Amino acid sequence: MAVSSTSHRNAGVKIRALTLREHSVKAFSYDQFGGAGVLHAANLPEPVAGTSDVVVAIEARSINLIDIRVRSGMMGPLVNKRFPKVPGADFAGTITAIGANVKHLQVGERVFGAADPFKGGAFAELVAVPESQVIKLPSELSVSDAVTLPIAGLAALQSLRDLGGVTSGQSVLIHGATGPVGLFAVQIAKYKGAYVTAVGGAGLETARLLGADVLIDYRSGKTVQKNGGFDVILNASGKMPYSRGKIFLKQAGRLIEPSPTIAVFIGSKLGNLFRRRKHLALATQVRHSDLEYLARLVSERAVKPVIAATFAFSETLAAFAMVEGGGVIGKVVVTR
Ligand SMILES: NC(=O)c1ccc[n+]([C@@H]2O[C@H](COP(=O)([O-])OP(=O)(O)OC[C@H]3O[C@@H](n4cnc5c(N)ncnc54)[C@H](OP(=O)(O)O)[C@@H]3O)[C@@H](O)[C@H]2O)c1
Repeated sequence: MAVSSTSHRNAGVKIRALTLREHSVKAFSYDQFGGAGVLHAANLPEPVAGTSDVVVAIEARSINLIDIRVRSGMMGPLVNKRFPKVPGADFAGTITAIGANVKHLQVGERVFGAADPFKGGAFAELVAVPESQVIKLPSELSVSDAVTLPIAGLAALQSLRDLGGVTSGQSVLIHGATGPVGLFAVQIAKYKGAYVTAVGGAGLETARLLGADVLIDYRSGKTVQKNGGFDVILNASGKMPYSRGKIFLKQAGRLIEPSPTIAVFIGSKLGNLFRRRKHLALATQVRHSDLEYLARLVSERAVKPVIAATFAFSETLAAFAMVEGGGVIGKVVVTR
């Protein structure tokens, strides 16, 4: 009896160990907020599809500034304190499971989209996300190009098209044109027919190749001179706040903040009641129609994703180190 009970316990342990292996996924996660050093390889429980979710076996993902800001703990109440946390919003891959209420997607379909950036999840083999956050991967779009689009591309698109209302012939200033958002913004503004002034750093030659008409290298000490010259300003650098940028706006111009603080969010709405030059704060939405719109721009070669480097999943720590080291022109992609 004793022997059988021991072997039963042993069998139980073995089954649990097997279960852990079968129902765990490789991930990169952290157990406390902090610098790059808190991120480490881990085996985590396999994500399960909620009723409106799809589970995706990830083929590629990309790094965004928000992944680093969330990990650093600087996002305050926007991020819960439950650990472990897996970074990563942008991803592409194949659906392995769907919830009971999923209507438009099926197991086996290839998709791309974004997890909630404040929750993350893309730096794992599998991620569970609401159906509303993903679309089918167009056959002509590579997974590497697809994962550059959601967070940075949507921010650029919704800033310029929805808040800026950019139209043909307008004069647009992209301040911070050499970051991932700025490089998409330059291309979307050109696609809309605008005349684009790009202010940025090391990636200015890339911005020129992507269509920017005027280049200003902030590192040279040169600044924007055109008082009253712009219909739309995108403050992608964070260095052109409304207090500074308003003199560069035309009478009914708009300055857009892609990364507004709560104070800017509320203050800009109140202030706009009393002024013609508007200050607008972006609250990005992951919309199917906008992901499709961006994918179409890439297919039509109106927008070219800029990929600075591609790493294997096992090299995730090196990929983050590259982004956090600065001077990267374009997106860093991490594949399987
Ligand atoms: N709302 C959203 O959903 C959303 C999504 C994505 C991003 N965002 C926000 O959008 C902003 C841009 O994102 P990102 O990923 O492109 O950021 P990023 O990688 O930090 O890019 C910022 C760019 O600004 C340049 N820059 C720095 N100082 C400058 C200055 N004084 N004048 C002009 N350019 C300057 C940098 O050049 P160097 O590197 O050469 O210094 C860099 O190329 C961030 O604030 C981000 O939080 C919001």
